[in-house]
Amino acid sequence: MQTIRTPRAMRAWAQSRRSAGKSIGLVPTMGALHEGHASLIRAARCSTDAVAVSIFINPRQFDSAKDLQRYPRPTAEDLRFCHREGADVVFLPHAGELYKEGFQTVVRVGNLTELFEGRSRPGHFEAVTTVVIKLFNLIGPDFAFFGQKDYQQLVVIQKMVRDLDLPISIIRCRTVREPDGLAFSSRNRFLSGPEREAAPAIFSALTTARALVRAGERSATKIRRAMVRGISRESLARIDYAAVADPSTLAELRLLKDRAVLLLAVWIGDTRLIDNMVVTCP
Ligand code: PAF
Repeated sequence: MQTIRTPRAMRAWAQSRRSAGKSIGLVPTMGALHEGHASLIRAARCSTDAVAVSIFINPRQFDSAKDLQRYPRPTAEDLRFCHREGADVVFLPHAGELYKEGFQTVVRVGNLTELFEGRSRPGHFEAVTTVVIKLFNLIGPDFAFFGQKDYQQLVVIQKMVRDLDLPISIIRCRTVREPDGLAFSSRNRFLSGPEREAAPAIFSALTTARALVRAGERSATKIRRAMVRGISRESLARIDYAAVADPSTLAELRLLKDRAVLLLAVWIGDTRLIDNMVVTCP
């Protein structure tokens, strides 16, 4: 496995794979890799000839200097992880290489980015789409792999790819969970012992809401209330938002017809976690 630090060398690597007729799969990450990332790398390995993992803690997508500063950076461990999972190359650029002095261009997807995460974290998505399109331009992957845990991010990236006619297939990979249902996230490592015990309340609120849908409930208000109730039973948890939305447009629903996505953002102590579940009406 190669480790590449400059955009120029990364472009050359990708070019050489393309010239050899190989397809390229990209797994964009911010490091602190876990089982969720492993599933993305494995999916890329199964469906492409050459797998690139990018590890870049994108400073522009953090809400505060404190959050950026405390974000974990276990680089040596991450490189071993990528090697073990069979990545062919890890792109590990310095922030100054991706954002040269005077950088001032952004790619912004419209309405979709103003909802939910966008409301709670202004500017977040435009920082995500800008860095993702830079990675796409540098590497030119045929396929890029994203986890469904960041549901809105996935929908926003799919929209950007469609709107800008990028020749890249976005592959959605299912959320990977701990045995107690907590979705793997790099932020889980911030949880104290009691907070870690409280965190599965998120998954259980989602499964309670899903059970209501399966039992025939179609009122989005009632389903949303059930999620809020589930979270408020846990004293260490504080809800940021709970929503029942259309899985493609993310428009909030009043009545469920066929499919919906249940979205939750919850503070557990000082750590903000998000999760979701797509539900189908029987
Ligand atoms: O999901 C993430 O880890 C990040 O938002 C991404 C897509 C790597 C962009 O920085």
